[in-house]
Amino acid sequence: MLFVQAGDGYPYYARPRHPGGKPTLADVVKVRERQRELGVPEAFEWVHETTPDLYDIAIEAGLEVLRAPLLVLDPDRLPEPRPHVRVLGTRPVEVSVVAQLAFSSPGTSQGDVGVAERDAALLEATPMSTRHRHAVADLPGEGVLAVGTAQRAGDVVEVAGIGTLPAARRRGLGGAVTAELARDALDRGAKLVFLSAGSPEIARVYERVGFRLAGTACIASPVVG
Ligand SMILES: CC(C)(COP(=O)(O)OP(=O)(O)OC[C@H]1O[C@@H](n2cnc3c(N)ncnc32)[C@H](O)[C@@H]1OP(=O)(O)O)[C@@H](O)C(=O)NCCC(=O)NCCS
Repeated sequence: MLFVQAGDGYPYYARPRHPGGKPTLADVVKVRERQRELGVPEAFEWVHETTPDLYDIAIEAGLEVLRAPLLVLDPDRLPEPRPHVRVLGTRPVEVSVVAQLAFSSPGTSQGDVGVAERDAALLEATPMSTRHRHAVADLPGEGVLAVGTAQRAGDVVEVAGIGTLPAARRRGLGGAVTAELARDALDRGAKLVFLSAGSPEIARVYERVGFRLAGTACIASPVVG
C-alpha cells in the first residue's frame, strides 16, 4: 500500500498490507516506479515480525534497510513526572531548533553543541503550526534542552523526534520528555503508545522510562551513491 499525502506535509512511505500475501520483488519494483512517478521518496516501512520475507526482497531490490527496535509502553512502568518537562498542544519554536541540532549529532554521546548554538539558531527560526503534541524540557536558567513529539491516529500514539542538545545529554532529559509524552497520551485516552528507536543503544533510553521491546521496525530507502 502506498499512502499519498493530500495536502502539505511530510510524504508517506509504502508498507505491505497486513494480513497480506507474500511480497515479491516485482511488487517492490512496481511500488518504486509509482513513487518515482508521484515524485515521492522511494521509502518503505514494515514490521519484520509480521512480514519477515520482505527484508531479503528489499535488499535484493537495492534498498538499504534500517532495523529499528520497536517499543511499546507498559503504562505501569512510567516513572514519576520530572519537574520542568511539559507537554503542549502548540509547537514552540525551540522544538524544531533543538531537534535539528540533536539529530545533527546522532547517537547518545555528549558533545559541545549546546545553548549558544540553540540561541543563535532561534534568531532565524519561524514558528510552525501543529496537529501534534510536543514536549519540552525547559530548565530554569538554561531554557529548552530536550524536545519530542507525539502523533495520534485513533487511540494509537507514536512518539517521535526525541532529541537532546549534545551538551545536555546524559541528564535523563531525553527519557523524561518521552515519559511525559507517553503520560499525556494516556491521559488523553490513548490505548497504545509506541515508538521506534534508531539503535539498540537509543532503545535503552526508552526502556528505562517504561517502554519494552515488541518487535523490529524495518525502514527502507534506496542505497545512496
Ligand atoms: C537519544 C537521545 C534523545 C538521548 O537523550 P538524553 O537526554 O541523553 O537521554 P537520557 O539522559 O535520558 O539517557 C541517556 C543516558 O544517560 C544516562 N543518564 C540518565 N540520567 C543520568 C544522570 N542524571 N546522570 C548520568 N547519566 C544519566 C542514561 O542512563 C542513559 O545511559 P545509557 O547510555 O546507559 O542508556 C540523545 O542522545 C539524542 O538527541 N540523540 C540524537 C537524536 C536521536 O537519535 N534521537 C532518537 C531518535 S529514535
